[in-house]
Amino acid sequence: MRVSRFLMAAGLALLVAVTMSVTPSAQAKTDEDYDKLMKGVGAANGAMRKAADSDAAAAEAKKLVALFKDANQFWAGRQNTEAADWAMAAMNHAAEIDKAATANDMPGAQGHMKELGGVCQACHTKNREKTETGFAIKKS
Ligand code: HEC
Repeated sequence: MRVSRFLMAAGLALLVAVTMSVTPSAQAKTDEDYDKLMKGVGAANGAMRKAADSDAAAAEAKKLVALFKDANQFWAGRQNTEAADWAMAAMNHAAEIDKAATANDMPGAQGHMKELGGVCQACHTKNREKTETGFAIKKS
């Protein structure tokens, strides 16, 4: 019993280390950085919604927390308080999804996924535009 606890703790520490090493940590500054960041958000969000189990969902939610933290700082740097607030709200929902999924509370996680989706949409309506080649930050 003591041994298996130790192994679990070691495994968890490894998982955290791996998760942190794949999470982008560089602060997004340019429009290109932000485009990459959003592609990462799209990928993590899709994987989270399709996750086979609650552990997988929690792992993707953790990536979203890091990405939206970056997004929050990006918008704060551009003096766009409204977008920075949306990024913060998205980060908080992602953190709640992580918490709920980790506790195996999938209905709770799904409630926050739905709210998160509303935040994605609100920010996109205001700040995203479609171009010939994809999406870009709306020039106001
Ligand atoms: C704070 C504002 C904001 C929030 C919140 C936000 N986005 Fe975005 N998103 C943008 C902007 C602005 C763009 C356009 C920039 C670009 O793609 O270059 C964008 C672009 C995208 C793209 C297109 C990327 C590409 O160019 O192919 C995807 C996919 C995306 N967002 C997914 C999401 C998802 C999923 C969420 C919520 C889980 C989300 N976003 C939340 C602002 C936001």
